[in-house]
Amino acid sequence: MTVLADAGWLNPLIALLQDAQLGLLRLLAWLGLAGTSHGQPAWPWGLRLTGENLLIDLGQARRLALTLVVLALATLCLLLAWAWRGRRWFFAAAVPLLLLVAPWPAAEVVLVPAYPTSFHRSPTGFSADAIAQGRALYAAQCAGCHGADGRGQGPLAAAQPVWPPDLAGPLLWRRADGDLLWRVLHGAKDRRGRPTMPAFERLTDSEAWAVIDFMKAQGAGQSLRTTSIWRQPIGLPDAVVRCAGREPRRLASWRGQRLRIVAAGATPELREDPRMVTVQLLPADGSAAGQAADCVTDSAAAWDAFALIAGTDRLAGTQLLADRDGWLRARSRPGDAGWSEDDLLCRTDAAPRGTAAGAAPADGLGALIARMDSEPVRFLKGGFVH
Ligand code: HEC
Repeated sequence: MTVLADAGWLNPLIALLQDAQLGLLRLLAWLGLAGTSHGQPAWPWGLRLTGENLLIDLGQARRLALTLVVLALATLCLLLAWAWRGRRWFFAAAVPLLLLVAPWPAAEVVLVPAYPTSFHRSPTGFSADAIAQGRALYAAQCAGCHGADGRGQGPLAAAQPVWPPDLAGPLLWRRADGDLLWRVLHGAKDRRGRPTMPAFERLTDSEAWAVIDFMKAQGAGQSLRTTSIWRQPIGLPDAVVRCAGREPRRLASWRGQRLRIVAAGATPELREDPRMVTVQLLPADGSAAGQAADCVTDSAAAWDAFALIAGTDRLAGTQLLADRDGWLRARSRPGDAGWSEDDLLCRTDAAPRGTAAGAAPADGLGALIARMDSEPVRFLKGGFVH
């Protein structure tokens, strides 16, 4: 899976690529030199730098890192040549020399095709409402080819020039969100330029983003059903929460703290726990016994979104844990005796590192939290660290 535990210097390098390109795009937009596309500044080139291949090819990653160092040196020489009259020619001559000796990485490893929307960010906040909207759109517009479960087996699939991909697999998580947006709105072509996936220009931008949210949530549930883990990291869907006597707030507003979502139902008793914020999820039809936590959310969209991600239509009594960065990490099923490390569903493949000596956690939940915190999600999407 794409949770990178020990990428050391590589993750910062990949993040630097992303930040530099985003920064450049913002600068162009600020100078009025970038057009807009689907509501955000448009990437003006047909290529962009990506980090995904660097994970596979460490040799190229080193070349890229060294090249960046040499480029920084060359810039310094340029500045010195400009500022230091006496040594102008010395420093000026060093610039082309440095460019010549730089160990440039292979272009096909670091450059990938880009679209005007490649760097777009989803404006939905991965909200339960967007997922619900996406669900209806998907059923009406996409399921015919991609199948009700997203695995590419819809009734029209066999008649397509190429088989629709499995949207429950790693594909959605590998693509940049902005690239997905482009494919949905403008379709896809094969190598010879023949259309493969139809364009959905009739969708509005926000509808297309909603469908993308739905596909991610559905893929997570599908992964849980077939492999018993979330193979790709999945975010906590957002919803409005009411806490006793206070203004309503959003789940996302607790970013930075651990969250426990408890679907009302078979849970015997619900105790607040100082290690995390507890939010109770109530079914919108009022069928649950009632509020047992300080904070509750009771929209039908929220219930459905969590059920989709948990891959179950019997959500009652399920508990989910989200980490401080807003990733869903663990689940306990109705009737489970308590938490244990095995409930960590989004984890690295590396062997658990064991908790620090002397600080052995007292209970299963403590062990789970220790492991969750020591293995933060370092996730690559579209070639960039999230
Ligand atoms: C007429 C059949 C058809 C319909 C309807 C359809 N798709 Fe597709 N879709 C395809 C095919 C075929 C591909 C494979 C394209 C390729 O690989 O060239 C595809 C590919 C995709 C991909 C992967 C693109 C990528 O980056 O590789 C996504 C995402 C996708 N479809 C989303 C959707 C969504 C969302 C809808 C509904 C709004 C939809 N599709 C409706 C046939 C369809």
